[in-house]
Amino acid sequence: MRQNRKAVDDSSMVWSVGRTTLEAEPAIEAFDRASIRHQPQNLLMSRENSTGEMIHAIRTETDLVALALRLGARDVAGWSPAEEALAATASTAKPNVVDWALDAIRMGEDPLGDAFCQLRTPAVRRAQGATYTPSRIVDAMLGWAGSLPRPDRIVDPGVGSGRFLRSAGRSFRRASLVGVELDPLAAIVARATLAASGLARRAQVILADYREATIPLIDGRTLFIGNPPYVRHHLISSRWKQWLRASAAEVGIHASQLAGLHAYFLLATSMHAKKGDIGAFITAAEWLDVNYGQLLRELFMGKLGGLGLSIIEPSASPFPDAITSAAILRFEVGTRARSVQVRRVGDLDDLRDLADGRLIRRERLEAATRWTPLTRPAKRRPEGWVELGEICQVHRGQVTGANDVWIASIMDIDLPPEVLFPTVTKARELFNAGETLADTTGLRRVIDLPEDLDVICGSERRVVEAFLRRAKALGADKSYTARNRRAWWSVGLRSPAPILATYMARRPPAFVHNVARARHINIAHGLYPRETMTKAALAGLARFLSTGVNVAEGRTYGGGLTKFEPKEMERILVPDPKVLPLAGTTAS
Ligand SMILES: C[S@@+](CC[C@H](N)C(=O)[O-])C[C@H]1O[C@@H](n2cnc3c(N)ncnc32)[C@H](O)[C@@H]1O
Repeated sequence: MRQNRKAVDDSSMVWSVGRTTLEAEPAIEAFDRASIRHQPQNLLMSRENSTGEMIHAIRTETDLVALALRLGARDVAGWSPAEEALAATASTAKPNVVDWALDAIRMGEDPLGDAFCQLRTPAVRRAQGATYTPSRIVDAMLGWAGSLPRPDRIVDPGVGSGRFLRSAGRSFRRASLVGVELDPLAAIVARATLAASGLARRAQVILADYREATIPLIDGRTLFIGNPPYVRHHLISSRWKQWLRASAAEVGIHASQLAGLHAYFLLATSMHAKKGDIGAFITAAEWLDVNYGQLLRELFMGKLGGLGLSIIEPSASPFPDAITSAAILRFEVGTRARSVQVRRVGDLDDLRDLADGRLIRRERLEAATRWTPLTRPAKRRPEGWVELGEICQVHRGQVTGANDVWIASIMDIDLPPEVLFPTVTKARELFNAGETLADTTGLRRVIDLPEDLDVICGSERRVVEAFLRRAKALGADKSYTARNRRAWWSVGLRSPAPILATYMARRPPAFVHNVARARHINIAHGLYPRETMTKAALAGLARFLSTGVNVAEGRTYGGGLTKFEPKEMERILVPDPKVLPLAGTTAS
């Protein structure tokens, strides 16, 4: 197959139709002949049969243009000079092909899009990011949009053959329909599909690069919906990379140059949209975890107003020609949801209700650099139970950089009491405490000086200076930790955690209700409730965790040492205090 593709710059490609024929593509022709040979001859032609034959009849891109024109492509607003140039190359469409196509489109099929995908090799379409969306995914995304107040306008960025826009036009009978597309052939195909579906009057196709397209603001609500093109960064020109950097900087986000084209589309959407607009996009799921996905994660949590994520496992084959997992993201611009709904889907049949899934707190998503681990349910969760992370943030204690200096010794007895903090410095202190750390007797003191030493005056200042000279002599200012804090002398202990936990031992961790308000260093984790909890609830939670956590939930190292990273501890299941009062709860 010969294909004319003219690169305008490295990323924005304009595709012109050449004398593309199937003659040189024996594999496709053989497939078509085979499928026709096996059709039942004497029966009324099945839909599949007629579609197969119709696609076979569209042998070149010029045939496809001819068919699109016959279906009324020109009736959709926005007809452009590039499309006019393509139209000039059109062959003549056979009337029976026009009837078949019309029929198929009215039945909800996408015969022109299918023909487009047959005529363009996967390699060519990959460079355009042209992977059209299966109808089950389109239906699920529109189904979700249908559960919200009706949009006044639908925008599909990268409209392709018009799958989303045509279905949206049927679901939302008053909304105007706007498709943006860079490829004039796809634009003509989308127009034809819209026209044949009786939607020409409400529809417009803008032949433009979505990133710089003019999409006027309207009074009502816009639904942005579609499948932004997935094109890797090395096919994106430096001009556009600059655009990405500058546009992201305007909303205070750092953009990696390794981001793919879908990131540009999300950023552009945040620029085209206004408060109250809603959206659903399907993308490859890698942005959930990789460094360059940070831009998308921040946009999702920030300007776009993320509401939910459905992650489609590769086993569900969201896209027939790619082994990849996909993510459907839903958003309402300007909202700041407290939690995001997350669901993993192993089968496209389970996609029906997109607004389903478990809630993950905004703070957890914002703090994590990889989201996939948060989306995986650790184990079956009983009704009314939540992950600890929904109730509490878990923080490792502060690293001092030199415990022999910063944990006070007899030498430091004269330091002002305000800089000596009773602190849990050994796991043993928590194991010995039992359920409650009632007082700080027996705990050592950590020296935590203010960053601004000038707040300490007189004789106290002299004692502090003497201590700092000793500390320097021991190299305390040279440790990696000391060099990386704002003032090397200021350890910066965390505030007292209401519950303290050990996290590394050959036994289950101890969770202790920290009534004494002791500080902790990095031998312990601190549990900080996200919302105020009563003393009784805190005691109940600590008691539940002490008796309910077993070593299997942490990571086991050689010799049976079990370690809980803060994020792992946040995944422990606990009864939801809103549903089950924790006080008095015992482990099952
Ligand atoms: C993944 S396809 C989606 C098509 C259709 N919305 C669907 O879901 O079936 C992405 C489309 O975006 C188009 N495209 C690629 N780069 C574009 C750009 N910079 N501006 C507008 N459209 C673009 C491609 O030609 C392709 O048709």
